[in-house]
Amino acid sequence: MSIREAVFEKDYTRYAWQLGKNVSYTEKITEFILQAKDTEYAIAVLDGGYIAHIYFGRRVDDEDLTYLLRLDENPFTPKTNERDLGTFMDCLPTEYPCFGVGDYREPCLMIMDADGMSSCKLKYKSHRIYKGKPELIQEGSLGESAIRLPATFADEDEADTLEITCIDERSGIEAVLVYTAFNDLDVITRSVRLKNTGSRPVDIRRVLSACVDMPGSDYDFITLNGSWARERAVERTPLRTGKQSVDSVRGESSHQSNPFMALVSHNADEDGGEAYGFNFVYSGNFIAQAEVDQHGSTRAVMGINPCDFSWRLGTGETLTAPEVVMVYSDSGIGKMSRTFHDLYRGHLIRGEYRDKRRPVLINNWEATYFDFNTEKLIDIAKKASELGIEMLVMDDGWFGHRDSDDSSLGDWFVYEKKLGSSLKYLVDEVNKLGMKFGIWFEPEMVSPDSELFRKHPDWAIGIDGMERTMSRQQYVLDYSRKDVRDYVYSMMSDVLESANIEYIKWDMNRQLTETGSHMLPAEHQREIWHRYVLGVYDLMNRLTTDHPHILLEGCSGGGARFDPGMLFFAPQIWCSDDTDAIERLKIQYGTSICYPASAMGAHVSDCPNHVLGRTCPFATRGDVAMVGTFGYELDVTRIPEEDRAMIPAQIEKFKRYNPLVRTGDQYRIGNIFKDNTWDAWMFVSKDKSEALFTFVQVMSRPNRRSRLIRLRGLDEDAYYRNEENGSVISGKLLMNAGIYVSASGDYVSKTIAFTRV
Ligand code: DGJ
Repeated sequence: MSIREAVFEKDYTRYAWQLGKNVSYTEKITEFILQAKDTEYAIAVLDGGYIAHIYFGRRVDDEDLTYLLRLDENPFTPKTNERDLGTFMDCLPTEYPCFGVGDYREPCLMIMDADGMSSCKLKYKSHRIYKGKPELIQEGSLGESAIRLPATFADEDEADTLEITCIDERSGIEAVLVYTAFNDLDVITRSVRLKNTGSRPVDIRRVLSACVDMPGSDYDFITLNGSWARERAVERTPLRTGKQSVDSVRGESSHQSNPFMALVSHNADEDGGEAYGFNFVYSGNFIAQAEVDQHGSTRAVMGINPCDFSWRLGTGETLTAPEVVMVYSDSGIGKMSRTFHDLYRGHLIRGEYRDKRRPVLINNWEATYFDFNTEKLIDIAKKASELGIEMLVMDDGWFGHRDSDDSSLGDWFVYEKKLGSSLKYLVDEVNKLGMKFGIWFEPEMVSPDSELFRKHPDWAIGIDGMERTMSRQQYVLDYSRKDVRDYVYSMMSDVLESANIEYIKWDMNRQLTETGSHMLPAEHQREIWHRYVLGVYDLMNRLTTDHPHILLEGCSGGGARFDPGMLFFAPQIWCSDDTDAIERLKIQYGTSICYPASAMGAHVSDCPNHVLGRTCPFATRGDVAMVGTFGYELDVTRIPEEDRAMIPAQIEKFKRYNPLVRTGDQYRIGNIFKDNTWDAWMFVSKDKSEALFTFVQVMSRPNRRSRLIRLRGLDEDAYYRNEENGSVISGKLLMNAGIYVSASGDYVSKTIAFTRV
């Protein structure tokens, strides 16, 4: 059992200067210890029902960790300190802080009860420990059925779960704090389930999913931030007093910030130091925050962004807050990343393609934009199939009367006049070439110039009497409404049933504004942000359940929704609209901090690159795209012959090494954010018998000799053949002394495979 409990009676004596004498007291403490592989997380329930945080870190295997609570220090325990409970509340490391009762640090729970009161006080009621991990379900309300939230999963022999139920007696709000410890991974997950057991409705004004109060503040705060075409750039700053956070109020996780943060020791690098990673399994508004308080302790919180959030809970109703994944590493940021990769590959991503090599695709977006028809696509497919490409993806522009981005979203019927054929004809022709066929949808959107909007203007998110803010000439559909989702789904189904479609790219190209629903009653209006995300999950769930053979790729104007919530439905996500191989070094480095290469949508595109105007060798574009799902995004009939001629060998190389990239351990060797003149990484098979090393020289320097690079992740006691030059060298030497790598020219790449002999 990786979760155990122990009960201690502790005697303390302390000189109380307020009273001028020694005070002796006994505290009954129930301690819960959660062990996940080499990680330990400990919680205490104190006599007064307070739920305290004791420890999160490397496994210590000691029964009694209660001294870490410092209950013998001022302001000692509540029952002997009623004259200053406030000071106690503001010091106690706590598992789930509530607003309004003396803890002035960031709260997780804030309510508005039927009397208009916002304070609440959760106290321990009961607990239960069991094998396995529960699904996260949002129970139905307002005519909605129950919706399953994305979350990691585990069998009974893979994880254990602790549920601590606490209650705010006044409002009747019950909170179940759910913790799961994974046996073979350094992972603890958390979520919260609220229930109104009272007799009157309560508005939940904030419900975060996790809080960890850490004893010190000697950490760096790492977040993944950016913008369109430069998503997930790594930023690292030392913590300072006060709050530092990243968030989204855009209705999706966003280009600008990712629902991820890490607290790492100042000395942490890829291989050493401590790292605590937090990732939110959610695709909407979020907050990830670290707060250093007056005593130099750090409170890390994560959850749905409280900004503009409110949820009315009627008597007996429940609200499930999404999951936070917490990873601990005692061996640097690299190990933290690999733990996230293993967790997501084994316990989050689902579906037939999870463990399979994905088909090498060619997408027509950068090849044609909106200017295509069946003939053009078949020309591309013919050439592509000769070169070994396995799937044609028809991107935006095949429906309604869409010739540019200013019409037709919502009209999911085939624009036969433009294509010059039926969809079935096109797909059959592509299939005859031995290729699969994939298609693009943007199901959450509606264009003002569409039949759908003309018929149902109230189906778009908006506020009566206020002009809707247009973005990319489109509005967002109100996915909190089942009738809207049903309609979109039936249109999508008709398309999917009309031809042999084996892949869908689900795009989302704008963020939410004037976020109101024409359906929700006033007292439920502010639920729309969360109900929108639940609606997206509901539709994705229907799609993947009804069409289990379809490969789903997530996308949002590039990589604005690269989050664990999406990975539950889509085994791959388009990383960024920036397909320039050199910019991708940063984007893919940042993405790899918590997401596996198996999920990174990455393509070889044309040059000069459409976003940056940069020209890179075709080989480099291939080597960089191989750190992902791999494909092409160019007009293969028009690229230079010497580039085209490289495609068959590039695909062979991808097929040869994809199992390593998809299932192996990733080691970042260069750090493109620190030194932007080069980058390097390795993928090593789990049994350490094979490795692929990739080096990219961004900028050539004069009069520089070869670069000495230490490899990582190999078996020190084994010998490896360098497949480039045939030399056999020990893992010890490769990792401690390194290899010399030389390259000539800017933007050039080099890969070297190593095989254990
Ligand atoms: C944004 C995506 O990221 C692109 O790949 C492309 O699908 C366009 N949308 C189409 O509108």
